Amino acid sequence: MRVLSGIQPTGRPHWGNYFGAIRQYVDLQGEEQAYYFIANLHALTTVRDPKLLAAYTLDAAIDLLALGLDPARATLFAQSDVPEISELCWILLTGTPMGLLERCHAYKDKKAKGLPADAGLFTYPVLMAADILAYDSDTVPVGEDQVQHIEVCRDLAASFNHHFGPVFILPKAKLLDTSAKVPGTDGEKMSKSYNNTLEIFDDAAAQRKRIMRITTDSRPMEQPKDPETDHLFQLYSLVAAPHERDEMAALYRRGGFGYGDVKKALADAAERFFAEPRARRSALAAEPDRVRAVLADGAAKARQKAGEVLLRAKRACGLATR
Ligand code: ADP
Ligand code: TRP
Repeated sequence: MRVLSGIQPTGRPHWGNYFGAIRQYVDLQGEEQAYYFIANLHALTTVRDPKLLAAYTLDAAIDLLALGLDPARATLFAQSDVPEISELCWILLTGTPMGLLERCHAYKDKKAKGLPADAGLFTYPVLMAADILAYDSDTVPVGEDQVQHIEVCRDLAASFNHHFGPVFILPKAKLLDTSAKVPGTDGEKMSKSYNNTLEIFDDAAAQRKRIMRITTDSRPMEQPKDPETDHLFQLYSLVAAPHERDEMAALYRRGGFGYGDVKKALADAAERFFAEPRARRSALAAEPDRVRAVLADGAAKARQKAGEVLLRAKRACGLATR
């Protein structure tokens, strides 16, 4: 079994990213062969500032390592360090029907809004197919918005195999468990685009301030409340120990407490929960060369595998001269 996923380097991770994705990547490592990469070639379709893209890429690696990705158990690398991907992408582009890409949502949405789209965005799903197929990946953990792209990948692989012989393994999407959507500070889904995030690597004081500003309803203190429908409690459940969670639930049901106390408890629990990753992040950020070495190591492993698959594909379609 080989698990693979790409992570867009787009800035500071929030609780939604951690509980909805990163923690699940970390859980999958070790049990299987896991390949995780920072999708900086994809990010180039939106991030057009060279300093920013380079910084985001290194930052994403630091974040993942700080949050528990272990290079001894998972291969971590930057997409742009594996040139085989771009070559495989070209091979797949030939034979990709325009209509298939016209239906893909990233391009379609942009076009529907009348925004200019470039060929990079249009062919985004083909690059993603190359990412997946290059490592004989069979399981691709992704959010719901990426499932369409995995379908495109399967189509392209099946059509190549049909025409040139059995070269590619058809991958399956593994839907990340986002059933428990992490609420933001306003009670809506936490998202960068809603400006309602709690960032994991904010310092403790800034985090506490954000938590204290979480919106609450104005029901009187005496009134018992159902914890399960309260976003403050949902956030608390993510970072508190099980017995703390149960005690807090009982407090909600009994009533007679203030939201201010819950916020304080939430800030304390969050500080404990993220203390270790925060310390690890500071240490890693102080030694960027160590992180670059991890990425170089990962890229060497990834290139080895991608090189084998690429050669298989080139031989099949008559491009190999050796
Ligand atoms: P944002 O909405 O902040 O732009 P992204 O779309 O970059 O977040 O999220 C990347 C991944 O993080 C998603 O595929 C999803 O698995 C997870 N994720 C993001 N926000 C949440 C959330 N509020 N609850 C659960 N998971 C989330
Ligand atoms: N497109 C994915 C996203 O925006 C990132 C990605 C790039 C990816 N290549 C991939 C995910 C290959 C899974 C497999 O989240």
